[in-house]
Amino acid sequence: DWNSGNVIAEQIERIREQVGDARVISALSGGVDSAVSTALVHKAIGDQLTAVFVDHGLLRKGEREQVENDYVESTGVRLITVDAAETFLGHLEGVTDPEEKRKIIGREFIRAFEKVQLDLVAEAKASGGAPVKFLVQGTLYPDVVESGGGAGTANIKSHHNVGGLPDDLDFELIEPLRALFKDEVRAIGRELGIPEAIVGRQPFPGPGLGIRIIGEVTADRLEILREADAIAREELTKAGLDQEIWQCPVVLLADVRSVGVQGDGRTYGHPIVLRPVSSEDAMTADWTRLPYDVLSKISNRITNGVRDVNRVVLDVTSKPPGTIEWE
Ligand code: XMP
Repeated sequence: DWNSGNVIAEQIERIREQVGDARVISALSGGVDSAVSTALVHKAIGDQLTAVFVDHGLLRKGEREQVENDYVESTGVRLITVDAAETFLGHLEGVTDPEEKRKIIGREFIRAFEKVQLDLVAEAKASGGAPVKFLVQGTLYPDVVESGGGAGTANIKSHHNVGGLPDDLDFELIEPLRALFKDEVRAIGRELGIPEAIVGRQPFPGPGLGIRIIGEVTADRLEILREADAIAREELTKAGLDQEIWQCPVVLLADVRSVGVQGDGRTYGHPIVLRPVSSEDAMTADWTRLPYDVLSKISNRITNGVRDVNRVVLDVTSKPPGTIEWE
């Protein structure tokens, strides 16, 4: 019989055995998986663990603060934040191809993370402390399957959180969630006392808002999308719909403009797409029949409050044929 308390106790013992007195590094993404795997390892080995959070500038509103304040407070994890927004945006300049964006974001993430790893390794050496030997990954069972770990699965999009490790940083992996599904991971996170705002969070792709701007990613466009996304999330939460929706990407069609009328003036702004989906595992999905009054509220708030947006549209495509994300 599955029980989160048992899994935690079992994993803690395994992690302690695997690690000994070595040091461990973990990357926090702001998502559920890395939050829970990091907290689990921290519970097992305390300050032998250092968590690293790379702010790539493609985060949603409030995400960095949630990690730096709420998460750290509830877990006691020692955290290093890397400010990499400018570097990421620089490399994304002029790039519109979705897989190209993923490649760049994945590569830059590894670079930023690698730099901190090397610093921590050097620091451990200098202080004569225990060596840094391990890396925590929040890999879930479905990640393993969808990245080609299972027989006969096609790699449709290159998920950058699996298999992208550089060879020269020779770490052993700790993957305490490798056999688990999302709902089990959430149960463990709650048991560990991680705030609901993080544990209950819907899936958010590693490349972040970078693949929800259709077209080139710029600071200006990110600001627009961040505001629209925050409004949609707020209204969905207010309406009590978080549990019913698997996730709701909010997408900015940055290269599309349409005519509108706002106040007494003609506008020529961008559309925002709402993509609410219901799903069991993200392999297939259906569009969620959201109540009209909630859609209406979101649409009014976005068109009234977000600059350069004059239209909100609803994506009514299932997966297949559409993927959940637009890129
Ligand atoms: P698609 O768009 O393929 O998405 O139907 C399926 C699920 O995967 C998430 N997703 C990603 N997650 N890196 C990630 O970590 C990615 O590059 C990526 N692309 C899609 C998506 O949000 C959905 O939950």
